Amino acid sequence: MRNVKISAFGCYVPPGVLTNQDLEKMVDTTDEWILTRTGIHERHIAAPEVATSDLAVEAAKLALAQRGIEASELDAIIVCTVTPDHLFPSTACLVQDRLGAKNVWGFDLISACCSFLYGMTTAAAMVGSGMHNRVMVIGADTMSRIIDYTDRATCVLFGDGAGAFIFEPAAEGEVGYVGHKHMIDGSGASVLRMPAGGSRLPPSHETVEQRLHFVKQEGQAVFKFAVKHMGDISAQLLAQHGLKTEDVAVMVPHQANLRIINACADRLKMPLEHVMINIQRYGNTTSGTLPLATRDAVDQGMLKKGDYVLFAAVGAGFTVGASLWRWEI
Ligand code: UT7
Repeated sequence: MRNVKISAFGCYVPPGVLTNQDLEKMVDTTDEWILTRTGIHERHIAAPEVATSDLAVEAAKLALAQRGIEASELDAIIVCTVTPDHLFPSTACLVQDRLGAKNVWGFDLISACCSFLYGMTTAAAMVGSGMHNRVMVIGADTMSRIIDYTDRATCVLFGDGAGAFIFEPAAEGEVGYVGHKHMIDGSGASVLRMPAGGSRLPPSHETVEQRLHFVKQEGQAVFKFAVKHMGDISAQLLAQHGLKTEDVAVMVPHQANLRIINACADRLKMPLEHVMINIQRYGNTTSGTLPLATRDAVDQGMLKKGDYVLFAAVGAGFTVGASLWRWEI
């Protein structure tokens, strides 16, 4: 295996903003409840005519521009999402066409809030094995399309957004990918899901009337699982590589709830000044959270070349994972 690095990134959120005050007018909630229970102040929402591929293309263009390469120089595109434009064709095909990425293959990767993390690991394997030299992983979600804006327990949590990383062989002296630890546990499948629209419950008048094409969540069950497993898998990954919390310059956790992030940092004994938090501005963008938080960590000067960066996420499924890298940009 050869060393693999993240060589560029780009992020995009749609301009529309939905504040807690806006939500107060839509459901029985308060700015105070949302802030204290979730840490979220506002989230970005795509205009009605904008779909996930549109967000993905904008993020991809920024990553290509940062790297200074053309889309035709990519070998593969993986679009990580739970809100593809259609079930088929895959959103990766739509993005490929819009970018003019003439020499790629690609696919969509659906693993809820771990989608981007699992996409990173897939790209590390593709480039590390020597199969490909340039793989783009895009995390993009238009969560507003599958959120029930009459359900106060879920509609305050999510937002729309996208981010893209490019993966390439590391140069002499660079490390990049260090390791990962992933786990899925389908016994928790019922506590966070979109019940209808698939082969189990195809669309019908009844499924629409019963609002089954929206996200349904048992918040507390997900909360408890996330706190335990996001922290534990991160600790196991660090131990596997003989590293301590203090070796990590920045932890980039999935942004689902500020209280989950705080509890997880506490479990790991990771000082909060080393944990990237931007949930207040974006809410939970599902596949978008890790790239968006990484970009903000770089912009804020938290993450510099050579630093260890620890990514971690928990999502529906359950899906769980942590991924450790040296930042080489
Ligand atoms: O990325 C995917 C993974 N998802 C997650 O990680 C989400 C995990 N779960 C959570 O983040 C939290 O469980 C929530 C933010 C969803 C809920 O917070 P909570 O502290 O677990 O609240 P709760 O569900 O126990 O509800 C407490 C109360 C209830 O009222 P009663 O029964 O005590 O009268 C709810 O009806 O808060 C009520 N409530 C609200 N009140 C005002 C629920 N949602 C709202 C709301 N505004 N938006």
